[in-house]
Amino acid sequence: MPCARIIGTGSYVPPKVLTNADLEKLVDTSDEWILTRTGISERRITTEDEATSDLAYQASLPALEAASLDPADLDMILVATITPDMFFPSTACVLQERLQARRAGALDISAACSGFVYGLAVADGLLRLGTMRTVLLVGAETLTKIVNWKDRNTCVLFGDGAGAVILRASEGEPGILSTHLFADGTKGPLLMMPGGGSRHPLSQRVLDEGLAAIQMASGNEVFKGAVRAMEDAALTALKHNNLDVGDVNLMIPHQANLRIINALGQRLGLTDDRVCVNVQKVGNTSAASIPLALDEAVREGRVKAGDLILLCAFGGGLTWGSALIRW
Ligand code: ACO
Repeated sequence: MPCARIIGTGSYVPPKVLTNADLEKLVDTSDEWILTRTGISERRITTEDEATSDLAYQASLPALEAASLDPADLDMILVATITPDMFFPSTACVLQERLQARRAGALDISAACSGFVYGLAVADGLLRLGTMRTVLLVGAETLTKIVNWKDRNTCVLFGDGAGAVILRASEGEPGILSTHLFADGTKGPLLMMPGGGSRHPLSQRVLDEGLAAIQMASGNEVFKGAVRAMEDAALTALKHNNLDVGDVNLMIPHQANLRIINALGQRLGLTDDRVCVNVQKVGNTSAASIPLALDEAVREGRVKAGDLILLCAFGGGLTWGSALIRW
């Protein structure tokens, strides 16, 4: 049975920077509060005419180049996002058209901040079936388009960006060793955008009540849930593969908050040099956060052939999961 290997990575963030000082002018907050509570000092933000597919496209080009492939080689395009260009067609279809990847199927995946790990599981499964050879998986978000800029609890947390990987079926040593996915729909109200869908279709009332924007019921509960769930998912992955934390060369967790990442690293017993962090510069980019950090690590030479890479994610849904990759 073939398995899936990552053979190219790419990423893109929009050029416009939004600093904590900029946010001080929008809501009652301070650089000091944001830095000490989240570790974030700035994030990237799209302009009015940039959409999620634009970021996805810019991230896909370097991934294809790194893999030495053309869009025509793609059998499938998966886009993990909760900020699609529109309800339909899917952002994956928009990206397929933009790349002119005419042979490729196209599908969006909605699992909030866990979207990339969910997408990796889908890509791995498709490649193991043997009917496809090459999949482009992109995590791409424009969360600043659905943020309530009057809500200081949330507007300081998020940023825009995209990260992409090319996965290829391989008969040799496995690339993706395992993926583990989890969800708890009972905790959906903790993090949601209630309006704009079929429950509360877009209307003036929905806009006035702020329902068409991200709502977070309890930051602290999300914080604690994220640390516990990602630790569980990481340990499940290691146990499944008869490996332990000592075998992990690099953990790339979802970049929500520096304190979540530090707490997770400490609970797992991973030293800082084995944990990938870039949340300071990009904020929480949801489904884009892991592939953005992964691409950065690859390009900085922090990921070498044979390394064991652990991905952990947690987000709205609630959803969480892990992936273990032999690079
Ligand atoms: N500036 C100043 N004060 C603020 C701000 C802000 N931007 N936001 C909230 N506060 C206030 C609150 O109103 C509250 O005030 P009160 O005590 O008078 O009611 C107080 O700060 C809360 O402070 P803390 O309890 O110290 O906050 P905490 O340490 O829990 O940090 C935070 C808050 C940063 C939201 C943290 O809980 C967190 O990061 N949680 C995870 C949330 C997250 O990452 N969500 C993203 C999606 S899910 C994911 O990606 C994993």
